[in-house]
Amino acid sequence: MHLIKNLWYPILESNEVKAQKPLGVERLGLNIVLWRNSQGQIFCHRDQCPHLGAALSQGTICNDRLICPFHGFEFDSTGTCKHIPANGRQAKIPVGMEVLAFEVREAHGFIWLWWGDSLDHYPEIPFFQELLGWNYGTSVVDWPVHYTRAIENQLDVAHLPFVHRTTIGAGGRNFVDGPYVESNQSEIKVWVHNSQDQGQTHRSQAELSEVSKNTVPSLHFIYPGIWKLNIGSKFQNFIAFVPINEKQTRYYLRAYFPIKNPLLAKLVCSLSGLSNRYILNQDKKVVITQKPLNSLDASQERLIGADRAISTYRRRLEHALREGETPLPSLSDELPFQSL
Ligand code: FES
Ligand SMILES: [Fe+2]
Repeated sequence: MHLIKNLWYPILESNEVKAQKPLGVERLGLNIVLWRNSQGQIFCHRDQCPHLGAALSQGTICNDRLICPFHGFEFDSTGTCKHIPANGRQAKIPVGMEVLAFEVREAHGFIWLWWGDSLDHYPEIPFFQELLGWNYGTSVVDWPVHYTRAIENQLDVAHLPFVHRTTIGAGGRNFVDGPYVESNQSEIKVWVHNSQDQGQTHRSQAELSEVSKNTVPSLHFIYPGIWKLNIGSKFQNFIAFVPINEKQTRYYLRAYFPIKNPLLAKLVCSLSGLSNRYILNQDKKVVITQKPLNSLDASQERLIGADRAISTYRRRLEHALREGETPLPSLSDELPFQSL
């Protein structure tokens, strides 16, 4: 898949990977297996045994080793094969009998996979600091769209009065002043200044910068795929966009509240989860019709001023492509194959 390299990608929520049970999933166009050792530490590998290709996720975990269900080969957390039952305890392990291991970490209720070069020290996982310590409820939905279309939909400020006419876009604020956008390599911040069309003209980015100064951005996106909608000091909406493959994206949709009482938080979160899913469904009906599927192939599209956040996002992706940051070769195709 085309992905920006050298970033932490959220791939699952932490609680999806249980103790003593490997979990096989498709993420970033790869089949991977996640599992925990006896200390609860998480590990991730390609979900394909180097012996005869069985899915390791169908296997078991024993003594902090992942054991293939087919012929019982045992792999440690680095992916090194430690035992081949058919060869006996004395036998040396043949060269190349390892399974690819990915760097993974847990933070903020997610499992994050490092997509990129091996490093001695990995960077911190970026997150919205203002959400730390807040309670949240998660809804999970899968859309049959490429992740670029999913992300751009949430950076699109011109669709609100049309797609969400009956909900968050009510009021006919068709006129998009700006939006005012600040961005760098790591993030995009968007201040929305939509209003009814009274025949006014657009303000410049400099003017909008003055107006937006010292206010919280309406939308905040951190690469490669977390997003926050500012609804106020008591409620924030959050999405982690998780690429499954070229044609599918998973949304981890969270409603965040600074409510300490866990029961009340649960109730509020599930209510807002319902309304968020309803609003997102309004988007889905249109986004699944977009062609081409991948916005990286959409150079023919004619963007307008209101699409400033989308064009900012595309520029970063295109830059990454040009600089050779991506695509990585499909890891499932290029593993070393060593004959015995
Ligand atoms: S296929 Fe995994 S041990 Fe044979
Ligand atoms: Fe929308």
